[in-house]
Amino acid sequence: MSDLSLIEEIPERLDEQHIFTTKTLGFLIHPNIPTTSPTLKIADIGTGTGIWLLDIARSLPPTCQLTGFDVTSSAFLPPQVRPPNVTFKLQDMFLPFPDSEKGTYDLVAVRFVSSATPRAEWARAIENLMTLLKPGGWLQWIDSCNFSLYNSVAGTSRAACQEIYDGLEPLRSKDDIVIGLMMREQKNVRRVDKFRELGLVHVHEDVFSTDRLQDPGLQLREKGTRNIITCFLGCLEELVGVAGGWSKERIETVKGEAMSEIDQGVYHTLDQVCIIGRKPV
Ligand SMILES: C[S@@+](CC[C@H](N)C(=O)[O-])C[C@H]1O[C@@H](n2cnc3c(N)ncnc32)[C@H](O)[C@@H]1O
Repeated sequence: MSDLSLIEEIPERLDEQHIFTTKTLGFLIHPNIPTTSPTLKIADIGTGTGIWLLDIARSLPPTCQLTGFDVTSSAFLPPQVRPPNVTFKLQDMFLPFPDSEKGTYDLVAVRFVSSATPRAEWARAIENLMTLLKPGGWLQWIDSCNFSLYNSVAGTSRAACQEIYDGLEPLRSKDDIVIGLMMREQKNVRRVDKFRELGLVHVHEDVFSTDRLQDPGLQLREKGTRNIITCFLGCLEELVGVAGGWSKERIETVKGEAMSEIDQGVYHTLDQVCIIGRKPV
């Protein structure tokens, strides 16, 4: 597992990212996955604040069982404010799940779980998550790729935002990184092939650009750009002291400049990718 997957996340950033992602995709659970059973059992891996699961809880009958797993409990919602059918459990997605959990889930969902994962580890995680599925159960994996920066006003700079993007280049150019924020262009990584090689069927991938969000009143473009720049800065903070990493002072300076650029209309786009596959019956 990459060290970067253990970045201390800001709950508010995750919850805001949830809104942008859901608006971009237009669904929480892919429409090819049936959700009509009143006793659905759903796992959310790397659940963070559990915001995806809590949204699901609002749209499904209370007889469905929803479990969020995460390697850290730091963002878990306290038990007194959780719906009774929502549970959170500590679990590293790379380690075997308890026997009591295996083969019991109709849907295992994963979203934005790692910043940089080599293909071998990604496959290892998928295999481990497949042990949770009932025969006929579905895996849904959501992540982002293809980040780009744009001006919206002629003559303004996007140098600082670009510097932040480029600061993560050593990770992007690492061998065989396929998933997470550093995910390469979709044509190179053959994600659906990997799902099929691991035995999943009815495999399908959708890719949606954040450019489809056209709601200036909500300032989605500006807020989404700040959100992702903050996320990238978090990655750079994790790399302080690592060979090729930045100093804290440089991060602070470039952060200030980048936020001014966003004030002047610089924005980014990215693609939200959703891959689904079904465990054979
Ligand atoms: C960027 S957050 C995404 C949170 C949530 N999935 C969402 O979409 O709002 C990544 C989450 O993955 C968790 N995580 C990282 N590595 C993990 C692992 N090996 N096993 C389980 N969870 C992990 C982190 O603790 C963090 O909560």
